[in-house]
Amino acid sequence: MSTATSNQTGIETDLQEQARRHLWMHFSRMGGYSETSEIPIITRGEGAYVYDDHGKRYLDGLSGLFCVNAGHGRTELAEAAARQGAELDFFVIWSYAHPRAIELATKIASLAPGDLNRVFFTSGGGEAVESALKLARNYHRMRGNGQKAKHIAREVAYHGTTLGALSATGVTDLRSQFEPLAPGGCHVPNTNIYRWPEDREPVWAADAIEERILFEGPETVSAVILEPVQNAGGCFVPPDGYFQRVREICDKYDVLLISDEVICAWGRLGHFFGCERFDYQPDIITSAKALTSAYIPMGAMIASDKVAEPFMEGTSSFAHGFTFAGHPIAAAVALANIEIFEREDLCGHVRANEGGFREMLESLRDIPIVGDVRGAGYFQAIELVKDQGTKQSFNDEESEKLLRGFLSGALYERGLICRADDRGDPVIQFSPPLICGPEQFEEIHDVLRPVLTEASQMMRN
Ligand SMILES: Cc1ncc(COP(=O)(O)O)c(C=O)c1O
Repeated sequence: MSTATSNQTGIETDLQEQARRHLWMHFSRMGGYSETSEIPIITRGEGAYVYDDHGKRYLDGLSGLFCVNAGHGRTELAEAAARQGAELDFFVIWSYAHPRAIELATKIASLAPGDLNRVFFTSGGGEAVESALKLARNYHRMRGNGQKAKHIAREVAYHGTTLGALSATGVTDLRSQFEPLAPGGCHVPNTNIYRWPEDREPVWAADAIEERILFEGPETVSAVILEPVQNAGGCFVPPDGYFQRVREICDKYDVLLISDEVICAWGRLGHFFGCERFDYQPDIITSAKALTSAYIPMGAMIASDKVAEPFMEGTSSFAHGFTFAGHPIAAAVALANIEIFEREDLCGHVRANEGGFREMLESLRDIPIVGDVRGAGYFQAIELVKDQGTKQSFNDEESEKLLRGFLSGALYERGLICRADDRGDPVIQFSPPLICGPEQFEEIHDVLRPVLTEASQMMRN
């Protein structure tokens, strides 16, 4: 099918064909698109909804990709960008500063917990993670512990795709094709409580970090990098006391705790920062995505005074940076975005409504394929199973049939954008814009119930 449209010069174009021929979509099986299998083309957004090139409306149950937290169509953010562009289009923050970067760094420092006062801007999440891993190594080196170069992350966690960040990412299929990666990445179990044997101590997975540090040798470990709620695998929440135990372990062995909040910051869990939800104090936070509600790319690494201190004295510096980091237009948008968060109390809105969201998802447990419902705030997942009683999962072939062969298409067809994923066991993930409430939850329910019921029947045959 072709999608004829007029481009900005008024010439009629076929976006479908041009997309198939020229656009290299990320993480996409480009060969799967053809004359009869359209590439979804999203043309505009408004609030919790987006529209495709046929004018069909979809509930954006994923906020783009966990990032349009303030919702679509906020002209105020576009206006902030335009005003800034007219005043100062660009200047670099290498040896210079400009007002918006200074104001935004100050604002972020005022919101970040404890002594997280030093903001190092990046262009996105992977760069923020890359920066944090390099800073951790460099911090130890500056203090005379240059051997501390390894980092510990969790199995199935996603921390980005650049070779350094990828060494922290714990998804085998994403890693193995690009090896050798940057050296130093070690992995420990995640907090998939649904699949833990019942006799496990609640914080055994935190203790596993200590065991790994001892195995590697504490003098070789620079940092532990963890998400407050792990995305890949399907919204793994930490058990009570997990992060407190991790903090103790990090302090004991002089290892930095990096909280990767590329998804979990900016209201996703009902707080500006995810670590606030679980009451722990990291040494570094990595952030991106909803810092600007994704109206423009921007990321940030937020470091504690302790970690930044060695780089602030005499002739020393952190020899690392990106041309576009702290871009004035992105910084202006981020400031306007945070203003919306404060004015509309989006974090409070999430805390007040997350119970209803969760209840709606829990109400689907009577469908045989629904194994687990988990998450926090507006970041929730349903794990799909073959057998609710035994928790038996689907094999690779069945997962393929279930997720890509049926669910992704069926949910989209019915006007719901969410994520059907199998980087661990098969899950469907939801991360709606923070402006959503009961009306959207009901809409999500009305799509999920028939689709999951059909999936359940299909997988039994
Ligand atoms: C926890 C986490 N860290 C890092 C990244 C990488 O961010 P980006 O895609 O902006 O490079 C992601 C992306 O989803 C993420 O979820």
